[in-house]
Amino acid sequence: MKIMYTDTYANMSRRAANIISAQIILHPKTVLGLPTGTTPIGAYRQLIEWYKKGDLDFSQVTTFNLDEYLGLDGSHPQSYRYFMDNQLFDHVNIRKGNTHVPDGTAADPEAECELYEQAIKEAGGIDLQVLGIGNNGHIGFNEPGTAYEKTTNVTELTESTIEANSRLFASKEEVPTKALTMGMKTIMHARRILLLVSGQHKLDILNAALHGPITPEVPASLLQLHPDLTVIVSTEDIPADF
Ligand code: F6R
Repeated sequence: MKIMYTDTYANMSRRAANIISAQIILHPKTVLGLPTGTTPIGAYRQLIEWYKKGDLDFSQVTTFNLDEYLGLDGSHPQSYRYFMDNQLFDHVNIRKGNTHVPDGTAADPEAECELYEQAIKEAGGIDLQVLGIGNNGHIGFNEPGTAYEKTTNVTELTESTIEANSRLFASKEEVPTKALTMGMKTIMHARRILLLVSGQHKLDILNAALHGPITPEVPASLLQLHPDLTVIVSTEDIPADF
């Protein structure tokens, strides 16, 4: 495990973008696993900037997002498909057909999870999985208590996640209570993992995840067992005007 501390959110973002860029430059056909949330936005902006300067080519890159709210389609501003299109995909030369986000409106969500897992396998597996961490130690939407052997699945969000994510919705009642998420097993199968953590309020849970007991109560603690984990921490909160 490699842990890098940075003093600002901008530095964390640039370092993360450096690692993602190196992966794409060395392996143009790379398969990336990507998160949504506030934490990776700076890294996505940096990747867009380098793409616009001509330093990066996404034309052969494939992506799989970690999760999607059940019930939201890609045109919903809080859906993760909408987020990814707006924060990254629409600004670089990635082929939309190579970008995957679980379909939150699938008629049979369980079957959609199986198809998603299958698609990851058919793409050759995930080379670099980027992650954020929730205040309760979740990764993807793998909430505390989740079984480690799960692959992509439909899951219930905890009260604390609904509360945390309600900041992006008009009201807490509008936050979907279920989601489709890569499982812990899916995440652990990635060849490399890059965990991004930003802000003082995440440091206690990060400490528990990296140095505490490996327990389903802190889903991210399983990452201790991954053979190629890099963690980039910014002690600064994400600036309000970012
Ligand atoms: C989002 C995801 C979540 C977030 C986590 C942190 O796709 O998988 O696990 O990474 O909730 O979110 P932020 O970055 O908003 O603090």
